[in-house]
Formats: sequence, structure tokens, C-alpha cells
Amino acid sequence: MLHATKFLFSCLILLSANAYAEYGDIILNRTADAMREAEVDDVVFPHWFHRIRFRCSVCHENIFKIKAGSNEISMSTITEDKQACGVCHDGLVAWEPLECERCHALEEGWSSGAIQHSIREDEKKNILLGIVGTVAKPYSKFMEIGTGWHPLALAKSGLPLDKYGLVNWADAVRKKIVNPLWSLNPEDDISEHELRDTNILFTAKGDSMPDVIFPHDIHSYWLECKICHGTQDGPMFIKELGANNVTMMEIGQGKWCARCHDKIAFPISDCNRCHNHPKGKPISNSVLIRPLKVAPPPTLPPIDEPAQQNSVDSDFF
Ligand code: HEC
Ligand code: HEC
Ligand code: HEC
Ligand code: HEC
Ligand code: HEC
Ligand code: HEC
Repeated sequence: MLHATKFLFSCLILLSANAYAEYGDIILNRTADAMREAEVDDVVFPHWFHRIRFRCSVCHENIFKIKAGSNEISMSTITEDKQACGVCHDGLVAWEPLECERCHALEEGWSSGAIQHSIREDEKKNILLGIVGTVAKPYSKFMEIGTGWHPLALAKSGLPLDKYGLVNWADAVRKKIVNPLWSLNPEDDISEHELRDTNILFTAKGDSMPDVIFPHDIHSYWLECKICHGTQDGPMFIKELGANNVTMMEIGQGKWCARCHDKIAFPISDCNRCHNHPKGKPISNSVLIRPLKVAPPPTLPPIDEPAQQNSVDSDFF
């Protein structure tokens, strides 16, 4: 099998596409010193390439905690323990970690989060590598799962785009252009995954912006409840209407919605995709309305809370 893989490596390299860094790419470099010693570049993890195949919950947080830099990964974790990237990059679901540069791919001038295109024309990256068998006749059920779809590069993938030219992942799933999997286990029953369809109204303080209707449905399509409500380092959101004192200032600092938006999900600069409900427009009965005042946490004296809230509001915008 190893020989077959190597043979395919050398054949398929001819078909390879150019390398791109894309929105949502994450640079992994906790082990920078060891990587420099081994003369490999930092690792670039492409979210887009994985999310066309897998919903977020396949990796978060069973395999990776949902915070950049919080996962300790080494080559022995991957190749010997078959953990982290090695859960899939083991020659079954995806190619084995033989070709260092497919992961150790950071190029000069790249940083994660932004859309950038490589100027380097070399052909070191080939997204078709590693297939033994074909999509029509995969050599294992796992391979079929891993290799479902092969756009040559994001730019050529035909995925719907938003006004910034970033992939509109909400449309991509609504229009069934991608159908990422919930699980690596072919036996797993998709109906066991919980969806929630409540919409929640966040009344934006002040008059400058439309209100926000938070849709549970698209979020629970991609993410299991526990990613938001049982996050490993403390819940992103307490699972109770109005229990979270969400402010735009803190979102701007990377908290709350910006734990994902601005990083992997669409960016914060796309204001009206969240501020989607004009003030005064009638609200359908099914929308849950958050209580306006947040009850102060029991450990704080009750008088502190309103004062703090007011100063936060007037300082922002
Ligand atoms: C194939 C596995 C995989 C899938 C699928 C995946 N992620 Fe990730 N995600 C990662 C890895 C790896 C990291 C980096 C972790 C680290 O740096 O320690 C990461 C990091 C993150 C972070 C942290 C970013 C930051 O700056 O702190 C967020 C947020 C995130 N992912 C959201 C998502 C969302 C939303 C989805 C689904 C749309 C998703 N991920 C799908 C593997 C995955
Ligand atoms: C849930 C399974 C899974 C995990 C976990 C995973 N990958 Fe992947 N990855 C895949 C699959 C499937 C492909 C596509 C394989 C193919 O096209 O044959 C892929 C493709 C890639 C690519 C695409 C670009 C190319 O040249 O082929 C890179 C880079 C990559 N993975 C890096 C990583 C890194 C780094 C990690 C760990 C931080 C990781 N992956 C974790 C399943 C996974
Ligand atoms: C599937 C993706 C992948 C491939 C392929 C891969 N690596 Fe890594 N490698 C990683 C990740 C992820 C880390 C952890 C990066 C971090 O968090 O700092 C890492 C870390 C390392 C480190 C530092 C930590 C340690 O284990 O000593 C070295 C050295 C390294 N890789 C060498 C290599 C070499 C040499 C190859 C080719 C034979 C290779 N890697 C192939 C993903 C990969
Ligand atoms: C993207 C993050 C996210 C995901 C995933 C998510 N929720 Fe929520 N959930 C929220 C937010 C935000 C609120 C509003 C909290 C507030 O009002 O302060 C909320 C509120 C709730 C509430 C109270 C309001 C209501 O809808 O009745 C319940 C119950 C709840 N979530 C259950 C779930 C369940 C069950 C799932 C999985 C099927 C889930 N949530 C998935 C973010 C999420
Ligand atoms: C755990 C990650 C995560 C968190 C936290 C999160 N989102 Fe999202 N959100 C996503 C993903 C993934 C999508 C799918 C679209 C994408 O990836 O750009 C999405 C989509 C949406 C959409 C649908 C847009 C459309 O075109 O249909 C809205 C609206 C939205 N989010 C608002 C919010 C708001 C408001 C909050 C905070 C209260 C929030 N999100 C918190 C991950 C997250
Ligand atoms: C990912 C979703 C999301 C995006 C994108 C977003 N907001 Fe917000 N914004 C919210 C939520 C949720 C609230 C409600 C906070 C609350 O309950 O008061 C809010 C509240 C506000 C408020 C009211 C003041 C406050 O702190 O509550 C203003 C003003 C505001 N946003 C401006 C903006 C502007 C300007 C942009 C674009 C640059 C933007 N927002 C983009 C989710 C978002």
C-alpha cells in the first residue's frame, strides 16, 4: 500500500493546483523552535478545505479545543498516537503525513484570517494527493467519507460568495451545494444530532443599528449545542434567554459572537448580516425576545451592574 501511495504521489503532483491562504486559515506555531530545527515552516490549517467535508463538531471539541493556540500538537501525537490531525491524516480518511510541506506550508507574507493569494507558482500543494482508489470506487468506506469532493482550489470551487468575495457558507448549505458530515463514523445516524430552530431577538441598544435576530437553526446545523453552551474552557453562551450580557464593544474585542465571526464564520464588518431586523418592524410570534435587563451575577452586589452597563453603552459608538 505504501508503494501505491508513493506512486500516486509522484503521478498526481503533475495535476497540482497553486497554493492559497484563505479566510479562516489558522497558523499553528506553538512548536516554532522545534519546527525551525527540523527546517520546516509553520503549519497552516485550512478551515475551508475541511468544512466543505465536515461540520465543525467533527473536530470541535472532541479533537481540537475551539481556541487558536490552545491545542498541544506534535508529530508523535499525529503519527504515533493518531490524535489531532492524525485522527484523519492516517491514510484512511485522508493522506498520511509523509509530505511535510502540505501542512508545514506557511509562506512569507501570509497571516491567518485574511484572504491572501500566494504569489508563489510552485506546485508543491496538490489537493488530490493521497487517494488510493477513486471516488467512484474507494478502497474503504472511510476513504469515501474523506474524499467526497475535490475542488482544485477555493477560487475555482463554484461556492456562493458574499459581498467580500468570501464563501457564503450559510447559502452553500441552504442551497445544498455542500453537505458536510456530522461524523467520521459511517454508521452514525444523522437524526441523532440535535437541531434547534428558535430565533432570538437581541435588541440593539440605541437607534443607530437595526436589531439582531440570532438564528439557532444555521448554528445548530454546523455546531453541536455543546460547542456554544458547554465550551471546554467555559461556555461561550449560558443556555438561557437573556443570561448573557452581550455588548458590541466586547464583540469587537473578540468575545461572544466574535469567538467565530471574524475568524471562521463571516466577518464582523458585515454589520447587516447580524443586524438583520429593522427597529419597529413587527416581530413574528415565534421569535424569542430577550429580557432587556440582565440579572446581575449573584456574586456581585446588585447596584454595580446597571452603572457598569450604562458606561459601556455610552462609551461605544
Ligand atoms: C478538520 C478539523 C476542523 C474542522 C472541521 C473545523 N475546525 Fe475549527 N479549528 C481546527 C483547528 C486545528 C484549529 C486550531 C486550533 C489551535 O490553534 O490549537 C481550529 C480553530 C478554530 C477556532 C479558533 C480561532 C481563534 O482565532 O481562536 C474557531 C473559532 C473555529 N476553529 C471554528 C470552527 C468552525 C465555526 C467550524 C465549522 C464551520 C470549524 N472550526 C471546523 C480544526 C477544525
Ligand atoms: C476530521 C478529519 C481531519 C482532521 C482532524 C484533519 N484533517 Fe486535514 N484533511 C482531511 C481531509 C478528508 C482532507 C482532504 C483529503 C483529500 O483530498 O484526499 C484534508 C486535507 C487537508 C489539507 C488540504 C490541502 C492539501 O494540500 O491537500 C491540509 C493542508 C490539511 N488537511 C491539514 C490538516 C492539519 C494541519 C490538521 C491538524 C491540525 C488536519 N488537516 C486535520 C481531514 C482531516
Ligand atoms: C497533517 C499535517 C502535517 C504533516 C504532513 C506534517 N506535519 Fe509536522 N506538524 C504538524 C502540526 C499540526 C504540528 C504542530 C504545530 C504547532 O502547533 O506548533 C507539527 C509539528 C512539527 C514539528 C515540531 C513538533 C515536534 O513534533 O517536534 C516538527 C519538527 C515537524 N512537525 C516536522 C515535520 C516533518 C519533518 C514532516 C514531514 C515528514 C511533517 N512535520 C509533516 C502537522 C503536520
Ligand atoms: C453558535 C452558538 C450556539 C449554538 C451552537 C447553540 N446555541 Fe443555544 N443559544 C445561543 C445564544 C447566543 C443564545 C441566547 C442567549 C441569551 O439570550 O443570552 C442561546 C439560547 C439558548 C436557549 C434559551 C433560548 C431558547 O432558544 O429557548 C436554549 C434552551 C438553547 N440555546 C439551547 C440550545 C440547543 C438545544 C442547541 C443545540 C441544538 C443550541 N442551543 C445551540 C447560542 C448557541
Ligand atoms: C461557535 C461559532 C459561532 C458563534 C459563537 C456564533 N456564530 Fe453565527 N455563524 C457561525 C457559522 C459557522 C455560521 C454559518 C455561516 C458562516 O460560516 O459564515 C454562522 C451564521 C450566522 C448567521 C446567518 C447568516 C446568514 O446569511 O444566514 C447569523 C445571522 C449569525 N451567524 C449571527 C450570530 C450572532 C448574532 C452571534 C452571537 C450572538 C453568533 N452568530 C455567534 C458560527 C458562530
Ligand atoms: C456576528 C453578529 C454581529 C455583527 C456582524 C455585528 N454586530 Fe453589532 N451587535 C450584535 C449583537 C448580538 C448585539 C446586541 C447586544 C445587546 O444585546 O445589546 C449588537 C449590538 C450592537 C449595537 C448596540 C450597542 C451595544 O453594544 O449593544 C451597535 C451600535 C452595533 N451592534 C453596531 C454594529 C456595527 C456598526 C457593526 C458592523 C461594523 C456590527 N454591529 C456588526 C451582533 C453583531
